[in-house]
Amino acid sequence: MVNGSMASPAGEVILRTHDLTKRYGERLAVDGLSLSVPRGEVFGFLGPNGAGKTTTIRMCLGLIRPTSGGVEINGGDVSRKGGRVLARVGALIEQPALYPYLSGRDNLRVIGDAQGGVSEARVDKALDLVALRERGGDRVKTYSLGMKQRLGVAMALLQDPDLLVLDEPTNGLDPAGMVEMRDLLRRLAAQGKTVFVSSHALDEVRQMCSRVAIINHGRLVTESSVADLTRGQGLFVVTLDRAAEALAAARAQPWGARARLTDAGQLLTPAPDDDGAALNRFLAQAGFAPRAIAPYEERLEDVFLRLTDAAPTERANGVRADVNNVKGGAR
Ligand SMILES: Nc1ncnc2c1ncn2[C@@H]1O[C@H](COP(=O)(O)OP(=O)(O)OP(=O)(O)O)[C@@H](O)[C@H]1O
Ligand SMILES: [Mg+2]
Repeated sequence: MVNGSMASPAGEVILRTHDLTKRYGERLAVDGLSLSVPRGEVFGFLGPNGAGKTTTIRMCLGLIRPTSGGVEINGGDVSRKGGRVLARVGALIEQPALYPYLSGRDNLRVIGDAQGGVSEARVDKALDLVALRERGGDRVKTYSLGMKQRLGVAMALLQDPDLLVLDEPTNGLDPAGMVEMRDLLRRLAAQGKTVFVSSHALDEVRQMCSRVAIINHGRLVTESSVADLTRGQGLFVVTLDRAAEALAAARAQPWGARARLTDAGQLLTPAPDDDGAALNRFLAQAGFAPRAIAPYEERLEDVFLRLTDAAPTERANGVRADVNNVKGGAR
């Protein structure tokens, strides 16, 4: 037990890994990972393919044994107390295993029976939570991928867990499916559940999580609030004509020293008082007509590069052509 280190000043820690390590032969899939997930939050677990997310999650759920280190849930050691600790945890790893010829409701009943029985009220509640009550009677083979994923979350919710562990629940979903999943997870957190959710897409995670841990090659790169992670840059992307002239105008301002152009010819600039609306006013008064102003959001890969010092500072602050993929529209 590791009690002395309360890593989260914000509140009680529901899931903690300490020095968690998994070795497959020569390969360290997870390397000394120490995480603290505060109760009641949506916590994002980010990393590229092969970073060690699923391996970590399997260890958290007692499905595989750590090579060293350990996992505590609600203060109980998963390796030693297994079932008792995990009784209050619901999980979905990758795709849910569903019976396509059964209805969504019957799938939940089957899972519930396998778990030792579940009341019909609980099944209703789970269907309600994932917004599948109306379609609950339809066969799963008629469901969209997003509905199947939501049914998978309903399965994880069946025993009313405190902690939900979801491994890439939005993988393969279209934008609408992602929005639905995001809303669902936020709703669950608002109801007091803790959601530990892995993903390899920063943009998606930043919209639903309050905290994130980023791992790469099995090691923790950073653990921080989403705001801190993305605020670092404090830049706005402005789409407008005469970008080079606008750049000169911004550079001449005390707040504008870091302004530059993107490969796509957009203006990338700090804003007066960190305020996008103030930037818009400034540009308008200077005779420009911005078509769109949005906070600059780094790609996950760029955050990695910046945080791992894998690249010189120039590059870390640099901007790629894909900057026009930035989320958010004109203000
Ligand atoms: N059973 C296993 N035997 C050997 N190596 C494994 C095993 N499971 C995972 N690995 C290796 O451990 C590393 C981490 O894999 P893991 O599946 O945890 O990554 P991930 O972050 O979930 O990736 P993805 O985003 O692709 O799901 C990879 O290099 C993988 O090849
Ligand atoms: Mg995985």
